[in-house]
Amino acid sequence: MSEPYGTPAYVSPSGLTRLYHADCLDWLRAYPGHSIHAVVTDPPYGMLEYTPEQVSKLRNGHGGVWRIPPAIGGHQRQPLPRFTVLGDKDIAALHSFFRAWATVLFPVLVPGAHVLIATSPLFNHVVSQAMVDSKFEKRGEIVRLTQTLRGGDRPKNAEDEFPEVSVMPRSQWEPWVILRKPCEGRVSDNLRRWKTGGFRRPSRDRPFGDVIESSPTRREERAIAPHPSLKPQAFLREVVRAVLPLGEGTVLDPFAGSGSTLAACEWLGYSAIGIESDLTYIEMAKEAIPRLSRIGPPLSLLWELASVDSGDPGTPHSPPTSVRPTS
Ligand SMILES: C[S@@+](CC[C@H](N)C(=O)[O-])C[C@H]1O[C@@H](n2cnc3c(N)ncnc32)[C@H](O)[C@@H]1O
Repeated sequence: MSEPYGTPAYVSPSGLTRLYHADCLDWLRAYPGHSIHAVVTDPPYGMLEYTPEQVSKLRNGHGGVWRIPPAIGGHQRQPLPRFTVLGDKDIAALHSFFRAWATVLFPVLVPGAHVLIATSPLFNHVVSQAMVDSKFEKRGEIVRLTQTLRGGDRPKNAEDEFPEVSVMPRSQWEPWVILRKPCEGRVSDNLRRWKTGGFRRPSRDRPFGDVIESSPTRREERAIAPHPSLKPQAFLREVVRAVLPLGEGTVLDPFAGSGSTLAACEWLGYSAIGIESDLTYIEMAKEAIPRLSRIGPPLSLLWELASVDSGDPGTPHSPPTSVRPTS
């Protein structure tokens, strides 16, 4: 008999990764409590761009919140969602959506579980507030330093009149808000009981930091997983590794898309669950997860090299920068 939250559409050969085709709100309502140790996710920011109406506009190549950025050097570029079209009603809808989402997510998490959510400088406050209104603690933000092509433009149709003006700054970072389900007692007690409450250090000597340099997603990865919001493996591997402070537990991505978070978990040897509501992306993820998780050298090799470097074969170290995948 299948579970109330359904049977997975995909299970990786290692058994570590499970992907469900479902609406994450329904799935979370049915999933057992106190069973997820961290969330790393990239939701549809405006809750608008992945509605069936907007996805059909994207796939037909015209209009809606999706726009095709100007070609650079003759190369056609990926469509980007145009978030500045969101009005007050959309922002209120965004807050309500995250409020409802946080309410069903909260019981599924163990105490001390971290939730990392990709946002945008325009809406990170709305997402954070909705989560805090739903009993999560705000614990900061990770700055993903990356060149985007958003903002920086001169005033529309008055470019010649105002050649020295940018209407908005050219965005050079992406905020990932950090929330946490409150711990039971002290962090040390919570770590012993639930294995959560902190972040895994890159090495004993180095704390996990909140600014991470990250190139845009590599062409090789985009060819494997042509999702319009694909995140790079190098960045995901770094943050996913950190969210299980003792390297134990299960990571959830409720807006899994093409499965990039799940692929990062698979590469790290972490157990992971993904949920995705669009069947096209489920099919994409089934192909992409095994291929993305094989990009770059296996983690075991990197750790071997790192421990040779440090002369400490007994300590699991983060891969040295020089041998990290370079996306
Ligand atoms: C921004 S994309 C994530 C892409 C992902 N970062 C990747 O690298 O492939 C958000 C995804 O959430 C999915 N989605 C939207 N609403 C959902 C819901 N209620 N439940 C599950 N998935 C949903 C969309 O179909 C879309 O693929």
